[in-house]
Amino acid sequence: MDQATTLRNMVKERSQGAEKKKARVITITSGKGGVGKSNTSVNLALALSELGKKVIIFDADFGLANVEVMFGALPKYNLSDVIYRGKSIEDVITQGPNNIGFISGGSGIVSLSNVNRDQLAYLIHNLNNLDNLADFVIIDTGAGISDQVLAFAMMAPEIIMITTPEPSSLTDSYSLIKALYRNPNFDKDNTNIRVLANKASTIEDGELVYQKLASVVTKFLQGRLDYLGMIPLDATIDKAIRQQKPVMISFPNCKASKAYKLVASDLINGTHSANNIKRGISEIFSSFMLNRRL
Ligand SMILES: Nc1ncnc2c1ncn2[C@@H]1O[C@H](COP(=O)(O)OP(=O)(O)OP(=O)(O)O)[C@@H](O)[C@H]1O
Ligand SMILES: [Mg+2]
Repeated sequence: MDQATTLRNMVKERSQGAEKKKARVITITSGKGGVGKSNTSVNLALALSELGKKVIIFDADFGLANVEVMFGALPKYNLSDVIYRGKSIEDVITQGPNNIGFISGGSGIVSLSNVNRDQLAYLIHNLNNLDNLADFVIIDTGAGISDQVLAFAMMAPEIIMITTPEPSSLTDSYSLIKALYRNPNFDKDNTNIRVLANKASTIEDGELVYQKLASVVTKFLQGRLDYLGMIPLDATIDKAIRQQKPVMISFPNCKASKAYKLVASDLINGTHSANNIKRGISEIFSSFMLNRRL
């Protein structure tokens, strides 16, 4: 049996049982950098947690430790400590504010393609535990069409595509979506891509971002995007960052915080509560590993 088949079987075995509770995994990504992915990850996590959900943020942007900075806490361990040093997934979760958990991918993600069978089995066993520890796992990725980002976006059942009204952000979002659609491993029928317009000046401005992007995706890729909503351009966000605190904590009633709460409630009870829970966290990571091997 080749390694890919072994891996697939291993995941199937361990995640079987329709009754098994699974965390809803949402990947936050963008074509262009600096458009607000990490801010969205942290503040959306806080808004979901306010509504009673247990949330774990997984920082897959191994280049810059974005989420750590926003939390003002340095994690002691990262995913490589699970793979190579026998730590459990609980050991590598740093507790952030309001009970939000945080896992740093660290160099663990980069070296995922070199792990042996036992290490894989141990990792998958631990990842399966996340289903018991969280209702939502939010994956904060890096920007752009790197292999790394593509692989993470490709396996995610739910993608939030952060796009700003800047023309370059729109074209870069389109390029990333195109790269996904052109990839034979992309399962378009079982993936929701939702656009979150960030740094929009008005509600109409946000809708326009979505309409422009959705129309090219329909026309050139015969694809479909949903509109998750908008987060207004709000200088309070930078003020909060200077205090090393997420805006949802420092200024819970500012425009941006209210918008995050709206999005969170839509994801739980509203228009966007439908989700594709079929692919849980361990399936997602194993496809990530398999894609990287191809
Ligand atoms: N709605 C908003 N209003 C005003 N400023 C914002 C908003 N969202 C994000 N910002 C600012 O934009 C900058 C980039 O945000 P963030 O770090 O979240 O982006 P990112 O997409 O994660 O970046 P990278 O690609 O480097 O990981 C930050 O300075 C942040 O304060
Ligand atoms: Mg970031």
